[in-house]
Amino acid sequence: MTPDLFGAAPPGLTYLPGFALAEEAALIAAALDVAAAAPLRVMSTPGGRKMSAAMTNCGAAGWVSDARGYRYERHDPLTGRLWPEMPKLFVKLAQAAAAEAGFAGFSPDVCLINRYEPGAKMALHQDRDEADFSAPIVSVSLGLPAVFLWGGAKRTDKPARLTLHSGDVVAWGGTTRLNFHGVAPLRPGRHALLGAVRLNLTFRRAL
Ligand code: SIN
Ligand code: FE2
Repeated sequence: MTPDLFGAAPPGLTYLPGFALAEEAALIAAALDVAAAAPLRVMSTPGGRKMSAAMTNCGAAGWVSDARGYRYERHDPLTGRLWPEMPKLFVKLAQAAAAEAGFAGFSPDVCLINRYEPGAKMALHQDRDEADFSAPIVSVSLGLPAVFLWGGAKRTDKPARLTLHSGDVVAWGGTTRLNFHGVAPLRPGRHALLGAVRLNLTFRRAL
């Protein structure tokens, strides 16, 4: 097994430990507000397998997966309504984190919210359903810690492991925009605000 990096960012990934910590509670509250309007739901892969993280979205469109494939949809297929507006706090945080990571001018139009319970994971994948690969990905972790898997340009590149805690932010773009990445199975635990849950906010320029 690749050793955990214990806080050192692997090449091609910007790691901003605690960048969102001061707004942890407000970010969690805003994410739960989004989930009250557009419920978290477990999606299926195009091949018919259930994912283990539950998902919802806010912003101008939402990422969805079903038998028809991976794509962004302007309406939530579950409710038929537009996705909830992206909270101002989300936009400000994503812009500030992107600027800190060297991507000044980033203006996310979508935010995917992933909810993990112990045992849930995300297999190595690329984020490639967005129209604009010149924009970075900004990823905010809340709740239980998780081991983030940071791979390379090829699926077979061995991923580095970086533990992300509540309030940590990672960002990537440019030459590593399409790098493979994932999340190792969440370990049991309790977070003071979220209990046995990890939320991840992923900001992108999708449309
Ligand atoms: C993702 O790649 O969409 C989620 C990553 C994470 O949960 O940290
Ligand atoms: Fe991803």
